[in-house]
Amino acid sequence: MVKEKLLSLVAALSVCLAMDAAVPVYQDETKPIEQRVEDALSRMTLREKINIIHAQSKFSSPGVPRLGIPEIWTTDGPHGIRPEVMWDEWDQAKWTNDSCVAFPALTGLAATWNPEMAYLYGKSLGEEARFREKDVVLGPGVNIYRTPLNGRNFEYMGEDPYLASKLVVPYIKGVQSNGVATCVKHYALNNQETRRHNTNVVVDDRALYEIYLPPFRAAVQEGDTWSIMGAYDLYKSEHACHNQYLNRILRDEWGFKGAVISDWGGTHDTPQAIANGLDLEFGTWTDGLKSGAVSAYDTYYLALPYLKMIEDGKVGTKELDDKVRNVLRLTFLTAMNRNKPYGALHSDEHYAAAKKIGEEAIVLLKNDGNVLPLKLDGKKKVLVVGENAIKMMTVGGGSSSLKVQREVSPLDGLKARLAGVAEVDYARGYVGDVTGEYNGVVTGQDLTDSRSADELVAEAVEKAKTADYVIFVGGLNKSTGQDCEDSDRAGLELPYGQDRVIEALAEVNDNVIYVNVSGNAVAMPWIEKVPAVLQVWFLGSEAGNSIASILTGDANPSAKLPFTFPVALKDVPAHKFGESSYPGIKRQDSDIWDVTYDEGIFVGYRWYDKEKVKTLFPFGHGLSYTTFEYGKASVDKAEMTADGEITVSIPVKNTGARSGAEVVQLYVRDKKSSLPRPYKELKGFCKVELQPGETKTVTFAIDKEALSFFDVDKHEWVAEPGDFEAIVAASAEDVKSVVKFKLVD
Ligand code: BGC
Repeated sequence: MVKEKLLSLVAALSVCLAMDAAVPVYQDETKPIEQRVEDALSRMTLREKINIIHAQSKFSSPGVPRLGIPEIWTTDGPHGIRPEVMWDEWDQAKWTNDSCVAFPALTGLAATWNPEMAYLYGKSLGEEARFREKDVVLGPGVNIYRTPLNGRNFEYMGEDPYLASKLVVPYIKGVQSNGVATCVKHYALNNQETRRHNTNVVVDDRALYEIYLPPFRAAVQEGDTWSIMGAYDLYKSEHACHNQYLNRILRDEWGFKGAVISDWGGTHDTPQAIANGLDLEFGTWTDGLKSGAVSAYDTYYLALPYLKMIEDGKVGTKELDDKVRNVLRLTFLTAMNRNKPYGALHSDEHYAAAKKIGEEAIVLLKNDGNVLPLKLDGKKKVLVVGENAIKMMTVGGGSSSLKVQREVSPLDGLKARLAGVAEVDYARGYVGDVTGEYNGVVTGQDLTDSRSADELVAEAVEKAKTADYVIFVGGLNKSTGQDCEDSDRAGLELPYGQDRVIEALAEVNDNVIYVNVSGNAVAMPWIEKVPAVLQVWFLGSEAGNSIASILTGDANPSAKLPFTFPVALKDVPAHKFGESSYPGIKRQDSDIWDVTYDEGIFVGYRWYDKEKVKTLFPFGHGLSYTTFEYGKASVDKAEMTADGEITVSIPVKNTGARSGAEVVQLYVRDKKSSLPRPYKELKGFCKVELQPGETKTVTFAIDKEALSFFDVDKHEWVAEPGDFEAIVAASAEDVKSVVKFKLVD
């Protein structure tokens, strides 16, 4: 009996062992990923390999059903998880469980100057993506802010490559900690929306390497992003999605091992796509699956046309295998990762994160006479004016448009916060964009108002006469020609006659607070007439609550501008050199428009420093409700060698009456160099929290990289020995202390 039992146990064990042995290597998560990739590759047919490198629907690729290798599901990105569209059409799928929490758009994140916020952002967003069963988030965007007219600047991280690099890395780590890939976009040089599909960027190598590429390089080398999205534009007359030059930099110089995903419809040529590193093709249009047995996706550049080239012997399968490897690796890290967390949707933590990031994103640009925070002792009358106080901003703007579970408007946020404390009244002031629909998602708001502009101004002015405070919430919105994909703005001015309304309000009330909702700089010709200005971005679900916190002083502003506000468009370097520099000039023999980046490396503050042009608000500017005093900067040694580093220290004291955080900025200046260099460049920053009266010493390490420029002839980064300055500043125009040091051989 005992013997029989033993025998059956042995039999059962050997079944287990046999089953174990049957687990194919590619499914065995204990095996190294490269081994699994090779194993899966070896089992795939040619047709399966072709299938896995292009879309099967608007947002998914098919995987290998026969082998149980799952589909990859992508989603926009970058500040919330996009609602579901139909399998093969852009119309809404009409699910009722596909809403999300919207986080502040990325210019707002950049304004926090806080890598911890970037990690929290990425982690929370990744959790929402994970819960919604997405494998790839199409973001973040890190194209450099070249012109304030670019309709997509709100999806990016500002004008400085160092700032964007330092924030993109924790964002990526946060998202990917969920087993969800980031797809950092749009690689590269997609700095305008006007004619984005046929703009050829002409840029010198220094500007390319020093200004436009660093955030992508950081995303690859420090962030380890699992995918990158190729851009729509052209560079050296080849589309960026399959561009030999950009691909060489990405793969050979930076060692990128992930997947290059095309922007939707950004692929244009099969041989180039084969040769230049594109791994996964997605598209925006097809009429496929409506009729017949053949999917329109078969006509994609990386579908049957590629297969035919292989079958005709025009190309081998080496490149195909590399593409499949990259897609498999992405799949193993995401869709086929059994160890990933479960994610979460609409959680209290996500709303709290959105609110906190929003509070840290709001920039106090001006605060004459400390008009802010609102002084609410005794009953006060607060008048809120402007369409952006009531308009839902999470709908619109293009592919980043969202369907939110809830969104608190500035007016509602303020009303909730001031309930029982002050009387809040509202006047429309102007009518801008009354639509509330994008791609089938409707806000449900009825913003129509048939009154004339004169009537609207008159009403607001009348109410403003008796108000203690007038809070004008205006700026841009997400409609075409504003902060919106696929179009640029026509000018720097505020739209819809807002300047007139603000001027009229300032005539009758001394306490007009201008709250600017936008992802871009706007002109403020009336700036001297209003005592306070806040830049509040597109803050997402918790917009109104974050804004109310800052206005009332519940939270102390600690944000700084991630780009310059110019006085006028003509001051902006991209607009200095005429049409050839923006928006471009059409080639005679084709529909390609060349845009030449004549300003070279002198983008943003680098230009204003060099040309000594006055700005409205400089890069890095932002006030607080407390005050900070900077001591004298010092270095731990006067000289450094190229393989060493020096430490710069500076004491910073909170001299005001409340706690607050200051973003201390370190710029480096090369006193003499063989090539023209910017007057100074951001090479460090630190957000330091200080209690009233408290002093902390902030330290920065400076190494060779911080001193280097890109030497085009040598094709490498070079730091020339000689004199340097470490410039500690509160903004690009508010230098606090300068200390000299030398780089020696
Ligand atoms: C945009 C991308 C976006 C994609 C998918 C494209 O038009 O440029 O940023 O991720 O659509 O929606």
